[in-house]
Amino acid sequence: MSNCDFFPDAAGIRPIKYSDGILRLIDQRRLPTEEVWLEYTDYHEVAEAIRSMVVRGAPAIGVTAAYGAFFGAQASKAEKYADFVTEFEQVCEVLAATRPTAVNLCWALERMKSLVRANADQPVGNLKIGLEYEAMAINEEDIRINMSMGRHGAALLPDQVRILTHCNAGALATGGYGTALGVVRAAVAAGKQVTVFADETRPFLQGSRLTAWELHQDHIQTILICDNMAGYLMSKGAIDAVVVGADRIAANGDVANKIGTYTVAVLAREHHIPFYVAAPTSTIDLQAADGSQIPIEERDSREVTHLGDQQLAPTGVAVFNPAFDVTPARLVSAIITQHGVARGNYTEQLAAFVQKDR
Ligand code: MRU
Repeated sequence: MSNCDFFPDAAGIRPIKYSDGILRLIDQRRLPTEEVWLEYTDYHEVAEAIRSMVVRGAPAIGVTAAYGAFFGAQASKAEKYADFVTEFEQVCEVLAATRPTAVNLCWALERMKSLVRANADQPVGNLKIGLEYEAMAINEEDIRINMSMGRHGAALLPDQVRILTHCNAGALATGGYGTALGVVRAAVAAGKQVTVFADETRPFLQGSRLTAWELHQDHIQTILICDNMAGYLMSKGAIDAVVVGADRIAANGDVANKIGTYTVAVLAREHHIPFYVAAPTSTIDLQAADGSQIPIEERDSREVTHLGDQQLAPTGVAVFNPAFDVTPARLVSAIITQHGVARGNYTEQLAAFVQKDR
């Protein structure tokens, strides 16, 4: 069985492929110049792939972690349920510790753990089979969800639209199709005339390396800009809407996303441009009352001081490298999910959307 059987016709890039017990990830660190696929069967290696950004983007790391959890289960020699559960929970802890901000990671692992807890009467062999199917289901559902989110989001856009996006919330950041770029793809499919301005997204360059690459592959008109050009374009009336993804949305609608998103949201408000966030309900964390409760990952200073092997800053300079920021709900015009669009007072609407999944 392969996860590619589910959507043979669904457009485009699939960064996560699974068949016959082998997980294949496109190495996103090497795009756009090289398309290299790496193979995984071991959960420690899957954890390292998430940590080192072979795979990145909130939904994509959730899907990948689910396969990692299956590999951990598969390798267990435990015969009794209690021993198996103890081992499995340790595997999930290792995977959960890889990246702290995107809640989809813990959401996917919780779903895998729930399956084990709900089937305590089953032999361990059956649990392993169930976990493999659950990981594939998480992968398949993610693509379906993105397509549905895309349709809701596209309906918000005019027939001719110039969209600014930040980071990569595309097929590469998900099982396929994308969240913010899913909205773009759905708008194009609906016959709208779309131009995307892609922020390059320093320091990891997800915009220039990944967003520009995948939109280019799909022949969607894309203009790459440096992050500090967004305000100028907005002031010239060249942007009609901002659409971004999210790594975690608090109960009140505050949105954690790639560093620089908050800056774009402030600029959008100043220029009366709608600022839309597209994210599946697995990105909503009702346990976090507001954005102050979202952990923000800090990454290696080398991402700021170097570009590949090229040193850009003096040796020993102090560096601050937060990977995400929080955009307050008041700057967000709407949150687009697979269940519909939330606007205004987010608390009740987001809770109702999450409830639909239960
Ligand atoms: O550090 P990354 O590349 O994992 O950050 C990704 C983002 O911030 C995306 O915008 C977010 O995960 C949404 S992806 C659908």
